[in-house]
Amino acid sequence: METTLIILKPDAVQRGLMGRIISRFEDKGLEIAGAKLMTISQELAATHYKDHQGKPFYDGLVGFMTSSPVLVLAIRGVGAISICRSMMGATFGSKADAGTIRGDFGVSNSFNLIHGSDSPEAAERELGLFFGAGEVQKIDRAIQGWVYDMSSGTAE
Ligand code: RTP
Ligand code: MG
Repeated sequence: METTLIILKPDAVQRGLMGRIISRFEDKGLEIAGAKLMTISQELAATHYKDHQGKPFYDGLVGFMTSSPVLVLAIRGVGAISICRSMMGATFGSKADAGTIRGDFGVSNSFNLIHGSDSPEAAERELGLFFGAGEVQKIDRAIQGWVYDMSSGTAE
């Protein structure tokens, strides 16, 4: 099982797309294990996007991410990190394939609706930045045995 950090960016919240985007992850069979509506501080944005510091789009990115509230999610499942990334689509809305979140809901390259951790290391780091102890739940889902084949003892 993996848990990944997803952020529904200010444009997704302002445009009223939170429910439809969350539904896609729930429909897929992934678990929403944490959720928090918050306004990201300059400091948190700078830490989160530290790898992009110095790039031409960095100031605009931090300005956008701190401009209005976001919905931060912890999403869990087998292979959740790469599954969520493929459901998000390519970085730029103008390039993202139809059927993906960025491809279906947006056209802008910088207002691209959603962030998702891109590796297990990034997920661990980013979950620690946005969620405190006890804020990501362990959910004993009654439906788990129909979402996954559990006959071998592990989720397949
Ligand atoms: P994210 O980190 O938000 O999940 O997006 P990503 O992995 O698909 O893209 P990344 O390369 O990490 O870039 C982070 C965010 O910076 C903005 N960006 N603008 N104008 C540009 O060339 C450019 N490149 C990146 C996007 O908002 C992107 O999501
Ligand atoms: Mg990224």
